[in-house]
Amino acid sequence: MRGIILSGGLATRLRPCTTVTSKQLLPVYNRPMIYYPLNTLIKAGIKEILIIVAPERAGDYLNLLGSGKQFGVKLTYEIQDHPAGLPEAFMIGENFIDDQNVALILGDNIFEDDFTEDIKNFKKGAKIFAKQVPDPERSGVVQFDAKMKAIKIVEKPKEKISDYAITGLYLYDHRVIEAAKGLKPSPRGELEIVDLHNWYLSKGELEVGFVKGEWIDAGTFDSLLKAQILAKERLQDKLII
Ligand code: DAU
Repeated sequence: MRGIILSGGLATRLRPCTTVTSKQLLPVYNRPMIYYPLNTLIKAGIKEILIIVAPERAGDYLNLLGSGKQFGVKLTYEIQDHPAGLPEAFMIGENFIDDQNVALILGDNIFEDDFTEDIKNFKKGAKIFAKQVPDPERSGVVQFDAKMKAIKIVEKPKEKISDYAITGLYLYDHRVIEAAKGLKPSPRGELEIVDLHNWYLSKGELEVGFVKGEWIDAGTFDSLLKAQILAKERLQDKLII
C-alpha cells in the first residue's frame, strides 16, 4: 500500500494565518498539523508516502520533513499547481501509485484511531470511513439502508440525508487512477472525491468502515482549536513521530 497526503489548497478560511504559510504547517499543539496524518500512515505500516503541496510552499515541506529517513519511511513530493479537487491527487500520483493500492489522507484531518488492520486487510475496491457528527453538512455524507449498507453518497448535502460524515482517509485499488481521469468537474468547478466513492459503490465494491475515536477536519479556526485540545489531551501517547 502506498500513501498520499494531500496538503495543497489555499486555506482562505484560515487567513491571515495562511497568508505566508500552508494550513497543514500550522501548529496543532506541539507539532505541525501534517505530522498527525503522517503519523496515521506511518503507524499503519505505510513506508512510501507522496506529499502533494502547493507550489509556493514546497520548500517549507522539504525543509520540515526531508527524505523521511528520520521516520523510517521514504517521502516524495509533487506540486499541485491549482486546487482543482481531491481526485487530482491520483492523476498527480499516477506514477507513484503504479499498480499498487493507495491510501489517501487529507493533510488537515486528525484521527485518534489506528488503521493498521484496515490497511493490512485491504485487497481490492475502495474503503471509506464514516463518523456520526452533529454537523454532517460540512462534509461528504453517506446514507445507509436499514441493514447499514451504503446506498447514497453526497458532498455537503443541503438537505439532511444522514448524520454520517465521510472522513478524510480513503483506501483504493489502482483503478482509482482511471476512475479519477473519467471525472467531470462539479457545478462548484472541482473534481469531487464523492464521485470516486460513487464509482466504486455503483460496482458494489465500496466498503464503509466506522471511525470510533475522535476525528477532526482542522480547516476552520474553531475546529483547529478543538484539534489543539485533542492533541494535547489525548493524542500525545499515540504519536510515533
Ligand atoms: O475532511 C473530510 C472532507 O474533506 C470530506 O468529508 C469531503 O467529502 C471532502 O470533499 C473534503 O471536504 P473539505 O471541504 O474539507 O475539502 P477541502 O476543499 O477543504 O479540501 C480538503 C483538504 O485538501 C484541504 O486541506 C486542502 C486540500 N486540497 C483541497 C483541494 C480541493 C488540496 O490539497 N488540493 C485541492 O485541490
